[in-house]
Amino acid sequence: MDAEKIRDLVKQMTLEEKAGMCSGADFWHTKSVERLGIPSVMLSDGPHGLRKQEEKGDHLGMGDSIEAVCFPAGCLSASSFDREMLRKLGETLGNECQAENVSVILGPAMNIKRSPLCGRNFEYYSEDPLVSTELAAAYIEGVQSKHVGTSPKHFLANNQEHYRLTGSSEVDERTLRELYLASFEGAVKNAKPWTVMGSYNRVNGVFATENKKYLTDVLRDEWGFDGYVVSDWGAVNERVPGLKAGLDLEMPSSNGVNDRKIVEAVQNGELDEEILDRTCERILDVMYRYLENRDENAVFDREKDHDTAEKIAEESMVLLKNDDGLLPFDKNQKIAFIGHYAKEPRYQGGGSSHIHSSRVVSALEAAKENDNILFAQGFTDDAEENDPALVEEAVKAAQQADAAVLFLGLPERYESEGFDRKHMKLPKCQNRLVEEILKVQKNVAVVLHNGSPVEMPWADQIPAILESYLAGEAVGDAQYRILFGDVNPSGKLAETFPLRLEDNPTYPYYGREGEDAVYREGVLVGYRYYDTKHMKVLFPFGHGLSYTEFEYSDLELSAEKMKDTDTLQVSVIVKNTGNRAGKEVVQLYVAPKDPEFVRPEKELRAFEKISLEPGESRKVTFTLGKRAFAYWNVMLHDWHVVSGEYEILIGKSSRDIVQQKAVQVESTVTVPYTFTKNSTFGEIFKRPEKMQAVMELFGAMGGVPMDPDTVKEQAGEGENMEMMQAMLMYSPIRSMVGFMGLEDEKVEAVLAKLNE
Ligand code: BGC
Repeated sequence: MDAEKIRDLVKQMTLEEKAGMCSGADFWHTKSVERLGIPSVMLSDGPHGLRKQEEKGDHLGMGDSIEAVCFPAGCLSASSFDREMLRKLGETLGNECQAENVSVILGPAMNIKRSPLCGRNFEYYSEDPLVSTELAAAYIEGVQSKHVGTSPKHFLANNQEHYRLTGSSEVDERTLRELYLASFEGAVKNAKPWTVMGSYNRVNGVFATENKKYLTDVLRDEWGFDGYVVSDWGAVNERVPGLKAGLDLEMPSSNGVNDRKIVEAVQNGELDEEILDRTCERILDVMYRYLENRDENAVFDREKDHDTAEKIAEESMVLLKNDDGLLPFDKNQKIAFIGHYAKEPRYQGGGSSHIHSSRVVSALEAAKENDNILFAQGFTDDAEENDPALVEEAVKAAQQADAAVLFLGLPERYESEGFDRKHMKLPKCQNRLVEEILKVQKNVAVVLHNGSPVEMPWADQIPAILESYLAGEAVGDAQYRILFGDVNPSGKLAETFPLRLEDNPTYPYYGREGEDAVYREGVLVGYRYYDTKHMKVLFPFGHGLSYTEFEYSDLELSAEKMKDTDTLQVSVIVKNTGNRAGKEVVQLYVAPKDPEFVRPEKELRAFEKISLEPGESRKVTFTLGKRAFAYWNVMLHDWHVVSGEYEILIGKSSRDIVQQKAVQVESTVTVPYTFTKNSTFGEIFKRPEKMQAVMELFGAMGGVPMDPDTVKEQAGEGENMEMMQAMLMYSPIRSMVGFMGLEDEKVEAVLAKLNE
């Protein structure tokens, strides 16, 4: 419906009808206005399957929902690093929504994985904002190509479950921009989601759903968001301030309480009716984007969509280790499948994204036509301690086989929406089982089912590890096909696996700040921290093996020098040197050389997944602009590039850099600086053009030359000179003023000159 018609419609609405439009009719529907022919539409979870509830609603995933298809959770699908795959997921979900008459699917969930403990990491994509925002954009485009809306969530800085409804995320401006806003920015700007979900938490003290700075100034005015903002379910604190700040739709229903507050606020002049009108227009605009493009012929084909779920899982699972090519197995080998999850896989997380799956395939079921598979349960999902009988049976199976596959993972009670994990360990009984199996069998592969990293005390002794995360209902098919080589794995980790929880930068304070979350680590999250500190990790960001090999060569940059307003073309040749087809994720990182202030050692600035036949090679090209070199400058309130040298790194992971070349980037922007009596001489020396003014005031001081070049020349004359220079660098102008007995007027005149 065009903007004018929508405005007309809103003009015909009574104040009460308009206030009513701003909250749900019930748990999942907007209100209708029958008098004007405005119907009610439905919103549903999301994000990795359709959780449409027909009866009474709940946002905890406890009540029943229609039989649907459970796709891999965000932790796994992100490991595909494959935009096409996420687009396909989106298209599939969009079609399911059309078939089920759902106007908006509540996803993608795209918060940054700040700590491995966040109970909801399984739904989120990455510790890196580029991966997160790019994959989310593809998902959004996919869903919306079917004329169904998305709701990127949870905006903003909602990175833990502990006190998630009330706590304040205390984050500095630069960190917000570089990580937490950046995770949403690209997706909002490029994929234009129809809605955005405001999160439960506060951001620097102000509820996200009342935060004008982010809901209006950044989201709408800066990024051009033109849909409606919906509250997370129950995230409204004060309705009228929320409305003024930019929160359009409250979900679920407030049973009329908040609608009345809106009416009163307009009547008593507290709320400008214009604001209410704009809100209704935005809600109606999005509703009609859907209503006018209903696809009555859409069919929810569960069989077909199950196959899509399988394909995504296959493209995403990460082969973490494969010593001596233990994998893939041959179907003639006798293989023992050991572990509860071989038969009853854990394939999705708990909470609002919980899908009522129509069909779940375990690895054991996928292997049913293979007579060479033995099975032993090994442990039960609900136990911490070992059951000796189960261990004995498992050891026997491992002994009889050529190799064993241990299907390990986190029980559902360990991780879910609503609470954070306490540690990063697997249940004790599983680690002990590994030890027992290793005593009788050296050819062991571990297959993991978990929503977030786990410690692996046995990693050195296990030749092969396959990370299958929470892989959706086709989990077993994908695992089986990878284990036996029908599929060549190509997933890469979208997060670092630290050796132990204590290595994570947030460890000392995560979940230990009372209600609040203080982001003390700043921009040093995930590999940005581990790599800057050159710490040993279990598996680095971007890591993942293949059954074939890739060789990189001929890195070329279009220039050796550039301005921050130019773009740089980067190309590299990748060759499949093995003897089977495979896919590789080519990763480009940028590393500033000798940064003057805190910067991550390197940051991912581009990536591309490519498919290569044996012997085939391909040139992969990237274009880098200012953002690739920039950090957020809090003086400019903008992105800024420091002039200097930057290394362009091409890697197979953040720790496996295979090609690199430097480029000199020159900034075209000067960061403003106001000189005062307390400015140091160092600040003057940084700006050679200011030297004249200072020389006029002080000349040379007690034999210490004022200009750094002379100091450098004379440095050979003894350490003393360097010491004197350092003292001068950190001395404020006022210290010299007193020392030389200079008059105030003279000083003011020089400061004025410096500030010209
Ligand atoms: C979750 C959202 C979800 C909503 C509706 C909330 O508790 O945080 O992600 O979309 O419930 O179920």
